[in-house]
Amino acid sequence: MDETVRTGLDGVVADETRLSAIDGDLGELTIGGFSLDELAGNATFEETLFVLYEDRLPTADELADFRDELAGYRSLAPATRTVVEAAAEGGQSAMDAARMGIASASLARPAADDGASGANGETASEEPERDALVAVSQLPTIVATYWRAREGAEPIEPRSDLSHAGNYLYMLTGEEPTDSEVRGLETYLNAVVDHGFNASTFTGRAIASTESDVLSAVTGAVGALKGPLHGGAPGPVLDMLDETHAADDVRAILEAKLDAGERLMGFGHRVYTVRDPRAAVLSEAAEAFYRADDGGDEDFYESAVETETVARDLLSDRRPDLDLETNVEFYTAIVLRGVGIPQPLFSATFAVARVGGWTAHALEQLADNRIVRPRSKYVGEYGRTWTSIDER
Ligand code: CMC
Repeated sequence: MDETVRTGLDGVVADETRLSAIDGDLGELTIGGFSLDELAGNATFEETLFVLYEDRLPTADELADFRDELAGYRSLAPATRTVVEAAAEGGQSAMDAARMGIASASLARPAADDGASGANGETASEEPERDALVAVSQLPTIVATYWRAREGAEPIEPRSDLSHAGNYLYMLTGEEPTDSEVRGLETYLNAVVDHGFNASTFTGRAIASTESDVLSAVTGAVGALKGPLHGGAPGPVLDMLDETHAADDVRAILEAKLDAGERLMGFGHRVYTVRDPRAAVLSEAAEAFYRADDGGDEDFYESAVETETVARDLLSDRRPDLDLETNVEFYTAIVLRGVGIPQPLFSATFAVARVGGWTAHALEQLADNRIVRPRSKYVGEYGRTWTSIDER
């Protein structure tokens, strides 16, 4: 038996997928057959979701039906609203609220006629495809409801006439977003919707592989995304950018961080040895947004671009042995700040996007399933003898 241990599953190819492909050395990302450049700035988020689920572009009629179907699941069950508001009132993070909210989203399923449940207690109304749409549709409402409660405000009911991205922004403030804001957010959602077997997606697939339900897979995936090494980086990136924006000497600030042994957030990646292609797409989106007439604070944008240049320079000087390049989180922070997403919602907004990938992966896993069950190499002791409690 081969007992080679690959910590972090580094380099392990665990299964096939048609959803996305990453070339870490060339810095290329393909989503549903489209290069990221082709997809991110052209597609609405609904079109991207359709491509992931159906493996083709929708016709105009199919897209209209799909948008209506998604919009039909936007409202939360009362108990979901209660738990999300309790999370906000209890000072919990948006990611905790997202986990609690999505865990209760099965309450929005139509009840089984006779309340009958299967051998494992699943409801008769469970349908993987519908659960996928419920998860995608409800996450933005969960996050916006959390935000409103945190701000001491009443939640804003979703509007079915707005796009998925437009409605998310609308539910945060009650104001209709500008076209630039919607396009900026949509490009972000498309850019991060899927990314191979990253930690949260793999978590979701492992859950689906037990033939559990899609909402359980999404709940586990939200938990995995919460960690600072995965989805938790854009908040700290913005802190760093605010600090460099306020300072005269960007290099001195970044050098001090590295001297103190800190990592520069928004740099480095397990798979990419060159600049993350999502950073490239989002940096174009950021430039378009901040330079548009109805866009954002150009001063902040200029300072962020300077910070990237200085940081790349410093990292390549100090660690020429590593390829510490800009990752997706760097420009995520810049784009999300611009379109009006509050910083405490950055990771949860990543979940609003990635839930498209999680659900498509869960469905892909269920369609051709084999339970995920790697082996472990035991490094503990053997042959211990039992000592009774009063002799220890
Ligand atoms: N700044 C400074 N040094 C760094 C950085 C950084 N951003 N990233 C890695 N290093 C150093 C690290 O200190 C280590 O040095 P040494 O060999 O002396 O101990 C070396 O590079 C290897 O680090 P690692 O943690 O073993 O690398 P990894 O491939 O396991 O981690 C990473 C990848 C993204 C977790 C890491 O680069 C990091 O912590 N970056 C900062 C946080 C961040 O931006 N996270 C978002 C990642 S993109 C999200 C996604 O795609 O899901």
